[in-house]
Amino acid sequence: MKRKKIVAGNWKMNMTLDESIELSNGLININKSNVDIMIAPSFTNLYPLKKQFDAHQIDVIAQNVNQNSKGAFTGEVSVEMLKSIGVNCVIIGHSERRSLFGETDQILCKKVNYATSNGMNVIFCFGEELQQRQNGNYFDVIQKQLEVGVLSLSTEQIKKVTLAYEPVWAIGTGVTANPDQIQEIHKFIRNLIHQRFEETISNSIRILYGGSVKPTNAVEIFNLADVDGGLIGGASLKFTDFQSIVEAADV
Ligand code: 13P
Repeated sequence: MKRKKIVAGNWKMNMTLDESIELSNGLININKSNVDIMIAPSFTNLYPLKKQFDAHQIDVIAQNVNQNSKGAFTGEVSVEMLKSIGVNCVIIGHSERRSLFGETDQILCKKVNYATSNGMNVIFCFGEELQQRQNGNYFDVIQKQLEVGVLSLSTEQIKKVTLAYEPVWAIGTGVTANPDQIQEIHKFIRNLIHQRFEETISNSIRILYGGSVKPTNAVEIFNLADVDGGLIGGASLKFTDFQSIVEAADV
């Protein structure tokens, strides 16, 4: 099955408003006939970028969301708030949220569940740490992250999910997992989805790779059978790098 590729830029905690607008002025001109482009800026830049991108087929997505609908949760942002400004997709489970902000599998399960039952699309991130890769138990780690995070969802909910395999040891390090390592995991993930859901779901769900994707390795990674695009950190902050990565996916 042919799945349309996604190239999503995760800007993390970078870019003031002016810097965002400047980079976006370039992004709107990128040719993207066969690829879905998504940009995840900080909360403060969501609304202005949404207005700027709306006429240019670029989706603006959030980097985080709370698992409750509203209330006394100082500093948090809800699904309803995101939807009220037209943002319909959010990244959940990024390794930085897990390791720096204490988001456990159980919290992430609540976030994915709440978001997908309330009309939100989710990019669900997961991946093993270096030690787990070296110990050889990374399949178990990934399976557990997926079991708690997405395998208990309903069919309607899983249709709203895109998966993103991001080995922690490859994030921001310049070290990319090699093509065999990536394809091995992506195939394993698709099989897990197949065991739990109908074949149409496992064939159509998009599985992104993230971790030091650059113009020099994007073609090779995006050509792998079970890779449906990338979640890009550092390289998404540089216009020419991001443009090359989009071109690598636009096939
Ligand atoms: P880098 O592309 O900087 O390695 O970051 C990947 C990432 O964390 C995307 O979410």
